[in-house]
Amino acid sequence: MGFKPGEIDVPFDRSGMVIPSNTNFLDTWEAMEDLVTAGLVKAIGVSNFNHEQLERILTKPNLRVRPLTNQIECHPYLTQRNLISFCQSRDVSVIAYQPLGGSSGGVDLMDNPVIQTIARKHHKSPAQILIRFQIQRNVIVVPKSVNPKRILENIQVFDFELTEQDMNDLLRLNRNLRLTMFPTVLSWLPLPAPLPPRQIQGSEELVRPRTGLGGTEAELPRNPQKQRGPRSKEASRAGLRKSTGTVWQVLPGTERPA
Ligand SMILES: NC(=O)c1ccc[n+]([C@@H]2O[C@H](COP(=O)([O-])OP(=O)(O)OC[C@H]3O[C@@H](n4cnc5c(N)ncnc54)[C@H](OP(=O)(O)O)[C@@H]3O)[C@@H](O)[C@H]2O)c1
Repeated sequence: MGFKPGEIDVPFDRSGMVIPSNTNFLDTWEAMEDLVTAGLVKAIGVSNFNHEQLERILTKPNLRVRPLTNQIECHPYLTQRNLISFCQSRDVSVIAYQPLGGSSGGVDLMDNPVIQTIARKHHKSPAQILIRFQIQRNVIVVPKSVNPKRILENIQVFDFELTEQDMNDLLRLNRNLRLTMFPTVLSWLPLPAPLPPRQIQGSEELVRPRTGLGGTEAELPRNPQKQRGPRSKEASRAGLRKSTGTVWQVLPGTERPA
């Protein structure tokens, strides 16, 4: 599943919806299956799939290779109980990304008093509690660190066990807070006032990652040569930051109202 191919990473239509490619992800899956058949890869999986999308692959006629995993955002503020149990019931493993609350601009999970109390009780760090939380749910976990001491700390999670009470306390922190927002989702943000779409360099498409709460619509200039630079700057003015991969995220304080 991808966006319309072209010079623009994330193309939007006039209504602010991202323009998908006309490729069906089931066809993409077949191409990925070919890679397994050719011995070029051992296993294939998906990321950020909801249960309906996953079900479409699993029930696809003539499925040759089942998805091994679904990599999704998961941490105590987004516990993903239903999706995890769906995946596990279908023998699709789950990988939790942003398990520590994400990199800079993420959420400061490690300051949460519940997590800190559990950490003190086990003489472990909050990061180790967050990692162990996923392991005990039978979820694979990919914490990221560039710091050698923390990398070591993050693998020292097999010498203790969270109690059932600890697990329940962590699960109760869920607030369905999604750090990773995709452009289709960003179009839910309310517009302060409808703005006429602007035609950019002969194209009908707009690059509109976000409309602000009381702010102005950000139409990002397109410069095929220097696309990433200006877009990132504009995005940051518009309250967005680019995360790892190709996703846009809303900065704290600019979330959609409940
Ligand atoms: N599939 C997708 O759509 C998707 C989307 C987003 C992310 N991901 C993947 O998920 C992985 C993790 O994501 P992420 O880096 O955004 O979030 P994360 O692992 O939740 O958080 C990383 C942040 O935590 C810090 N950290 C790591 N270990 C720590 C420790 N022991 N104590 C205190 N702080 C610690 C890191 O700082 P230092 O580096 O300075 O230690 C970094 O700022 C990455 O591999 C990423 O590629 C996948």
